[in-house]
Amino acid sequence: MKKGIFSVFISVFILIITDACSNNKNSTTESEIEQSEQYIKTQQGTILDPNKPKAMALMMRQMASNADSMKSILLSGKSIDSLRFPFIRFYLAEPTDPSVLEPLFYENARLFQHDYKNIFIEKNNQIIAFNTMVGKCINCHENYCNGPLKRIKKLLIESK
Ligand code: HEC
Repeated sequence: MKKGIFSVFISVFILIITDACSNNKNSTTESEIEQSEQYIKTQQGTILDPNKPKAMALMMRQMASNADSMKSILLSGKSIDSLRFPFIRFYLAEPTDPSVLEPLFYENARLFQHDYKNIFIEKNNQIIAFNTMVGKCINCHENYCNGPLKRIKKLLIESK
Protein backbone atom coordinates (compact mmCIF):
# COMPACT_ATOMS: atom_id res chain seq x y z
CA MET A 1 0.00 0.00 0.00
CA LYS A 2 2.64 2.49 1.09
CA LYS A 3 4.75 1.40 -1.86
CA GLY A 4 1.88 2.32 -4.23
CA ILE A 5 1.59 5.84 -2.88
CA PHE A 6 5.34 6.24 -3.02
CA SER A 7 5.55 5.26 -6.68
CA VAL A 8 2.71 7.65 -7.57
CA PHE A 9 4.65 10.37 -5.79
CA ILE A 10 7.81 9.49 -7.72
CA SER A 11 5.99 9.47 -11.08
CA VAL A 12 4.47 12.89 -10.41
CA PHE A 13 7.87 14.17 -9.39
CA ILE A 14 9.51 12.84 -12.55
CA LEU A 15 6.70 14.35 -14.61
CA ILE A 16 7.27 17.79 -13.10
CA ILE A 17 11.00 17.58 -13.81
CA THR A 18 10.59 16.42 -17.41
CA ASP A 19 8.10 19.19 -17.95
CA ALA A 20 10.45 21.98 -16.91
CA CYS A 21 13.00 20.76 -19.41
CA SER A 22 10.72 20.04 -22.34
CA ASN A 23 9.88 23.62 -23.14
CA ASN A 24 10.24 23.52 -26.89
CA LYS A 25 9.40 19.95 -27.75
CA ASN A 26 8.06 19.66 -31.29
CA SER A 27 4.50 19.17 -30.13
CA THR A 28 4.12 22.59 -28.48
CA THR A 29 5.01 25.67 -30.45
CA GLU A 30 5.65 28.98 -28.78
CA SER A 31 2.38 30.37 -30.04
CA GLU A 32 0.54 27.42 -28.54
CA ILE A 33 2.18 28.16 -25.22
CA GLU A 34 1.21 31.81 -25.56
CA GLN A 35 -2.35 30.84 -26.39
CA SER A 36 -2.66 28.58 -23.40
CA GLU A 37 -1.19 31.27 -21.15
CA GLN A 38 -3.74 33.66 -22.57
CA TYR A 39 -6.42 31.09 -21.86
CA ILE A 40 -5.33 30.67 -18.27
CA LYS A 41 -5.20 34.45 -17.95
CA THR A 42 -8.77 34.90 -19.07
CA GLN A 43 -9.97 32.00 -16.96
CA GLN A 44 -8.29 32.95 -13.71
CA GLY A 45 -7.36 36.57 -14.04
CA THR A 46 -3.69 35.70 -13.52
CA ILE A 47 -1.10 33.49 -15.14
CA LEU A 48 -0.68 30.24 -13.26
CA ASP A 49 2.53 28.38 -13.80
CA PRO A 50 1.77 24.82 -12.79
CA ASN A 51 5.46 24.09 -12.27
CA LYS A 52 6.32 27.00 -9.99
CA PRO A 53 9.62 27.46 -11.81
CA LYS A 54 12.77 27.33 -9.73
CA ALA A 55 15.31 30.14 -9.69
CA MET A 56 17.65 28.34 -12.08
CA ALA A 57 14.88 27.85 -14.64
CA LEU A 58 13.98 31.55 -14.44
CA MET A 59 17.63 32.55 -14.89
CA MET A 60 17.89 30.25 -17.91
CA ARG A 61 14.87 31.97 -19.47
CA GLN A 62 16.59 35.31 -18.90
CA MET A 63 19.83 33.96 -20.40
CA ALA A 64 17.98 32.69 -23.47
CA SER A 65 16.22 36.01 -23.97
CA ASN A 66 19.50 37.91 -23.48
CA ALA A 67 21.19 35.68 -26.05
CA ASP A 68 18.37 36.46 -28.51
CA SER A 69 19.05 40.19 -28.02
CA MET A 70 22.81 39.68 -28.30
CA LYS A 71 22.34 37.87 -31.58
CA SER A 72 20.23 40.61 -33.13
CA ILE A 73 22.65 43.33 -32.01
CA LEU A 74 25.56 41.39 -33.53
CA LEU A 75 23.61 40.79 -36.74
CA SER A 76 22.99 44.52 -37.03
CA GLY A 77 26.76 45.00 -37.06
CA LYS A 78 27.02 46.53 -33.59
CA SER A 79 28.98 45.20 -30.65
CA ILE A 80 27.68 44.00 -27.29
CA ASP A 81 28.93 45.07 -23.87
CA SER A 82 29.08 43.36 -20.52
CA LEU A 83 27.17 46.17 -18.77
CA ARG A 84 24.03 45.39 -20.69
CA PHE A 85 24.63 41.62 -20.59
CA PRO A 86 26.29 40.77 -17.29
CA PHE A 87 27.07 37.13 -16.57
CA ILE A 88 24.19 35.47 -14.70
CA ARG A 89 25.44 33.18 -11.95
CA PHE A 90 22.82 30.51 -12.58
CA TYR A 91 24.91 27.76 -10.99
CA LEU A 92 24.33 29.23 -7.54
CA ALA A 93 20.54 29.04 -7.97
CA GLU A 94 18.17 26.26 -7.02
CA PRO A 95 17.43 23.90 -9.94
CA THR A 96 14.19 22.00 -10.57
CA ASP A 97 16.11 18.75 -10.28
CA PRO A 98 18.72 18.98 -7.48
CA SER A 99 20.57 15.93 -8.80
CA VAL A 100 22.03 18.04 -11.65
CA LEU A 101 24.35 19.70 -9.14
CA GLU A 102 27.24 17.29 -9.68
CA PRO A 103 30.87 17.86 -10.75
CA LEU A 104 30.13 17.54 -14.51
CA PHE A 105 27.50 20.27 -14.25
CA TYR A 106 29.89 22.66 -12.50
CA GLU A 107 32.60 21.87 -15.03
CA ASN A 108 30.17 22.70 -17.86
CA ALA A 109 29.22 25.90 -16.04
CA ARG A 110 32.88 26.86 -15.64
CA LEU A 111 33.64 26.37 -19.34
CA PHE A 112 30.50 28.29 -20.24
CA GLN A 113 31.42 31.20 -17.95
CA HIS A 114 34.89 31.37 -19.49
CA ASP A 115 33.53 31.59 -23.04
CA TYR A 116 30.79 34.03 -22.01
CA LYS A 117 33.31 36.47 -20.55
CA ASN A 118 35.54 35.99 -23.56
CA ILE A 119 32.90 37.66 -25.78
CA PHE A 120 33.71 40.98 -24.13
CA ILE A 121 37.46 40.44 -24.42
CA GLU A 122 37.35 39.45 -28.11
CA LYS A 123 35.91 42.83 -29.10
CA ASN A 124 36.83 42.39 -32.77
CA ASN A 125 35.59 38.82 -33.08
CA GLN A 126 32.36 38.93 -31.10
CA ILE A 127 30.33 36.83 -33.53
CA ILE A 128 32.83 33.97 -33.34
CA ALA A 129 33.07 34.33 -29.56
CA PHE A 130 29.27 34.43 -29.29
CA ASN A 131 28.94 31.18 -31.26
CA THR A 132 31.59 29.54 -29.08
CA MET A 133 29.59 30.55 -26.01
CA VAL A 134 26.36 29.14 -27.51
CA GLY A 135 28.30 25.91 -28.12
CA LYS A 136 28.78 25.68 -24.35
CA CYS A 137 25.03 26.13 -23.73
CA ILE A 138 24.57 23.22 -26.14
CA ASN A 139 27.24 21.05 -24.47
CA CYS A 140 25.63 21.37 -21.07
CA HIS A 141 22.14 20.86 -22.45
CA GLU A 142 23.16 17.66 -24.18
CA ASN A 143 23.96 16.35 -20.70
CA TYR A 144 21.20 17.83 -18.58
CA CYS A 145 18.17 19.34 -20.18
CA ASN A 146 17.45 18.36 -23.77
CA GLY A 147 14.11 20.15 -24.19
CA PRO A 148 15.43 23.61 -25.12
CA LEU A 149 18.22 22.32 -27.42
CA LYS A 150 16.36 23.15 -30.62
CA ARG A 151 15.77 26.71 -29.46
CA ILE A 152 19.38 27.10 -28.30
CA LYS A 153 20.80 25.85 -31.61
CA LYS A 154 18.83 28.60 -33.38
CA LEU A 155 20.94 31.14 -31.50
CA LEU A 156 24.01 30.25 -33.54
CA ILE A 157 24.93 32.93 -36.08
CA GLU A 158 25.54 31.38 -39.47
CA SER A 159 28.55 32.65 -41.32
CA LYS A 160 27.84 34.30 -44.66
C1 HEC B 1 26.14 24.20 -16.99
C2 HEC B 1 24.94 23.78 -17.64
C3 HEC B 1 24.09 24.72 -18.45
C4 HEC B 1 24.50 25.74 -19.27
C5 HEC B 1 25.91 26.21 -19.59
C6 HEC B 1 23.30 26.33 -19.81
N1 HEC B 1 22.20 25.68 -19.33
FE1 HEC B 1 20.26 26.11 -19.74
N2 HEC B 1 19.64 24.77 -18.36
C7 HEC B 1 20.46 23.95 -17.62
C8 HEC B 1 19.66 23.23 -16.65
C9 HEC B 1 20.17 22.23 -15.63
C10 HEC B 1 18.33 23.64 -16.85
C11 HEC B 1 17.10 23.24 -16.03
C12 HEC B 1 16.90 24.35 -14.98
C13 HEC B 1 15.75 24.10 -14.06
O1 HEC B 1 14.72 23.57 -14.51
O2 HEC B 1 15.85 24.48 -12.88
C14 HEC B 1 18.34 24.59 -17.95
C15 HEC B 1 17.20 25.19 -18.48
C16 HEC B 1 17.20 25.99 -19.60
C17 HEC B 1 16.02 26.47 -20.28
C18 HEC B 1 14.59 26.13 -19.89
C19 HEC B 1 14.14 27.05 -18.76
C20 HEC B 1 12.69 26.80 -18.38
O3 HEC B 1 11.84 27.54 -18.88
O4 HEC B 1 12.43 25.87 -17.61
C21 HEC B 1 16.44 27.25 -21.33
C22 HEC B 1 15.57 27.97 -22.35
C23 HEC B 1 17.88 27.28 -21.29
N3 HEC B 1 18.32 26.49 -20.24
C24 HEC B 1 18.67 27.97 -22.17
C25 HEC B 1 20.08 28.10 -22.04
C26 HEC B 1 20.89 28.99 -22.85
C27 HEC B 1 20.39 29.89 -23.97
C28 HEC B 1 22.16 28.84 -22.41
C29 HEC B 1 23.40 29.56 -22.88
C30 HEC B 1 23.34 31.00 -23.03
C31 HEC B 1 22.16 27.83 -21.36
N4 HEC B 1 20.87 27.42 -21.16
C32 HEC B 1 23.29 27.39 -20.71
C33 HEC B 1 21.82 23.82 -17.76
C34 HEC B 1 22.64 24.69 -18.48
